Amino acid sequence: MPVAKRPPAPWALALPAGRRARARLFLRLAAPLSFLLLVAAFLRTQPPAAPLDALPPSAGPGKVAFLFLARAGLPLDFLWDAFFRNGEEGRFSVYVHSAPGFVLDRTTTGSPYFYGRQLARAVKVAWGEPTMVQAEKMLFAAALEDPANQRFVLLSDSCVPLYNFSYTYTYLMGSPKSIVDSFTDKTEKRYNPNMSPVIRKDKWRKGSQWVMLIRKHAEVVVGDKHVFQVFRKHCKVVVVQVMWILELLPYFGPF
Ligand SMILES: *[C@@H]1O[C@H](CO)[C@@H](O)[C@H](O)[C@H]1NC(C)=O
Repeated sequence: MPVAKRPPAPWALALPAGRRARARLFLRLAAPLSFLLLVAAFLRTQPPAAPLDALPPSAGPGKVAFLFLARAGLPLDFLWDAFFRNGEEGRFSVYVHSAPGFVLDRTTTGSPYFYGRQLARAVKVAWGEPTMVQAEKMLFAAALEDPANQRFVLLSDSCVPLYNFSYTYTYLMGSPKSIVDSFTDKTEKRYNPNMSPVIRKDKWRKGSQWVMLIRKHAEVVVGDKHVFQVFRKHCKVVVVQVMWILELLPYFGPF
C-alpha cells in the first residue's frame, strides 16, 4: 500500500537535521517504553490468562478497543498498520482523539485503520490539565457505545505494539483485571489533605496514565464526576491527569 506523504511534525521543523535524526532515534527507542510498561511489565506480575471461553457466550468474540490520545497525527501509524493487518476483523476497534481541526485521512496517514476513526468532537488538550482527562473520558465513552468492546487500551501517539495481534488480544481478553501501573512514592509531596475523605492519603498513588481497563472500570471512569471535581479543586494542574484514574481505583470495587 502506498504510504501517504505527510508534512513533518511542527517540532521536527524546529530542529536542525542532526538533532532531528537524534530526536527520531530517541523517539524510536523511547516509544516502546510506554507499551512495555502497559503490557510487558504485567506479563510478569499477572496470573496466567484465563481461557477466552470464560467470557459470557452472548458477548461474542469481544473486541479490544484501542484508544489513541494523539496530539495530531500518529507518527507510528505504520507499526499499528502492520499490527492490525495481522489482526482479525471484528476483534478490535480503533478510536482517535486528536487536536480539533486535525483530520486523519489519506493525506495524513498511510493506514486505513485510522480513517474515520476520530471522535466527532474534540477538545484542545493541554498536557497535565483537565482537558486531557476530558479527552480520555471522551475516548472511553465513545468506545463504550459498542457493546462488543470488552477491553479498553489507552495509548499515546508514541506507543508501539511489542507483541503481535493474536498474542495481545488473547492476553488482554484473558485478563479479568484492569491493568494499571500504580505505586506508592514515599517522596511524593503533592497530596493535599483537603482532598480527604474523597481521596484518602493512604490511597494516594503514582503511576502511568496509559492503562487497560475492563468494561466495568471504563464505565466507572466515564461516570465519575466526584473524584475529578476534588482533583480539579485541590490538585496542582500539572498532576491532574497523571493521577486521576489512579484515585478512582478504590471506586472500582473488588477486582
Ligand atoms: C504471535 O506471537 C506469538 C508469540 O510471540 C507466536 O507464538 C505466534 O505464532 C504469533 N502469531 C502470529 C499469527 O504471527
